[in-house]
Amino acid sequence: MDNAFTMSNRDLVVLILAAGKGTRLKSSLAKVLHHAGGRPIVNHVVRACLPLHAKKIIAVVGHQAEQVSAAVAHLGVETVLQQPQSGTGHALLVSKRAIGSAKYVLVLPGDAPLIRTETLRALIQKHKSGNAAATILTAVLADPSGYGRILRKSGDTVAAIVEESQLTAEQRELNEINSSIYCFTCAKLWPALAQVKPDNKHRELYLTDAISILNSKGETVLAEIAADPREALGCNTRADLAGVDRTFREWKREQLMRDGVTIQLPETVVVDPDVTIGEDTILEPCVQLLGKTKIGTRCIIRTGSVLHDMMLADDIVVEAHCVFTQSRIESEVVIGPFARLRPESHLLKGSKVGNFVELKKSTLGEGSKAPHLSYIGDTKIGSKSNIGAGTITCNYDGFAKHPTHIGNRVFVGSDSVLVAPVKLGDGAYIAAGSVITENVPPDALGIGRGRQANKPGWASKKRRELGGHNHHAPKKSMRKKRR
Ligand code: UD1
Ligand code: MG
Repeated sequence: MDNAFTMSNRDLVVLILAAGKGTRLKSSLAKVLHHAGGRPIVNHVVRACLPLHAKKIIAVVGHQAEQVSAAVAHLGVETVLQQPQSGTGHALLVSKRAIGSAKYVLVLPGDAPLIRTETLRALIQKHKSGNAAATILTAVLADPSGYGRILRKSGDTVAAIVEESQLTAEQRELNEINSSIYCFTCAKLWPALAQVKPDNKHRELYLTDAISILNSKGETVLAEIAADPREALGCNTRADLAGVDRTFREWKREQLMRDGVTIQLPETVVVDPDVTIGEDTILEPCVQLLGKTKIGTRCIIRTGSVLHDMMLADDIVVEAHCVFTQSRIESEVVIGPFARLRPESHLLKGSKVGNFVELKKSTLGEGSKAPHLSYIGDTKIGSKSNIGAGTITCNYDGFAKHPTHIGNRVFVGSDSVLVAPVKLGDGAYIAAGSVITENVPPDALGIGRGRQANKPGWASKKRRELGGHNHHAPKKSMRKKRR
């Protein structure tokens, strides 16, 4: 037996309308490719449809057709080209062949990304059990402006959809809107669509006009009101996009909190949809966790840190204002504040990275430390080594990148420059301020710097010469004399 969760819909084709330009966004990017909640908006729509297990999912593309097709192809969506884009009704007509012999078509606009699978299931269920020609997902909005309004006939049935531009003063007060999500019975839809005329100022074929035509033919048109009206929100303007993005972020944070994550000042925290976080991890205000970031349990991510495609194990402290990309951090690492991890870096268990330290394509071994002001690139560091303040690996000679190998228990004195390719053996010791250009054997001291010479009495002699004044800076009158 089918139930709501296992129900497959092999008699149904999903059609996503994604051909429009999105004039009101004032953008060179097609509307449905704009991001909200960490994905292009059309992807959210496709993802909501995937669990329906429809016969197929088709996207109608037109404006920037190639990019839009590419954005949904990996989700198994096929595309139909609508050229030119002569309205939502026209978009259905050009898809007729692709829809083929399916009994039902579920139509969704590509610009209403908050729609949820459960709501679509309820819509399809109502359509089938009500034997309707069309069932419209509607929503009751405090501010319905910009949307087509639902003219009810009686109870559950609908007489017509009136577009904003065609509303009478009285109809303007109606606050039940058309979400542009519909389930149609194909055998009833096609004859009605054939009668739609471009009777509007844009000379377009409006799918909404098919509703009054079906009604006048005596067919049943039902409406299902979305439980959460936000599911019907379209993204026609930048303000719409910002509002929809806010809702996605809120839903994601609510999910994380239900799963045992502490989020301080949640409204300031941005987490992308694919991010996972373990129990008892704490996110401080203004943290951003992006891409496919995965964080284990009992970590603390302090304020202002931005993590993109990162893997963090358990019990890690990320101090404030860190920026990490495409790297791995093993358990019990403490890192930051103001640390930067560039791609392919790997911090092993219990290691420590301090402030103003940058790692790129480098491994810091177990228990090793780079506490202050360093650049470490293309470098492998063994365990229990210490990288002194201001150490720099010169991995680039202006032509090519070269590796640095630092063994176990190596001590690199502060302000050292390691000119790659170079190897420091286990237990080696580098004198502070060295420029190391040759390999250092295990347990050796590497020292590469100018030798210091002290000149006894030099400073007091200098002061005497300058007139016995015990000042560091010569007086104004003396400066003149010297010139
Ligand atoms: C449409 C509905 C309106 C509804 C609103 C909900 C019509 C005439 N109006 O208005 O009743 O309240 O959605 O958001 O249908 N598209 C194409 N080809 C076209 C035209 C549009 O694929 O030729 C696509 C767009 O890319 C978009 C979707 O259809 O994803 C809806 O088009 P849009 O221009 O946003 O319609 P609205 O003015 O929002
Ligand atoms: Mg729209």
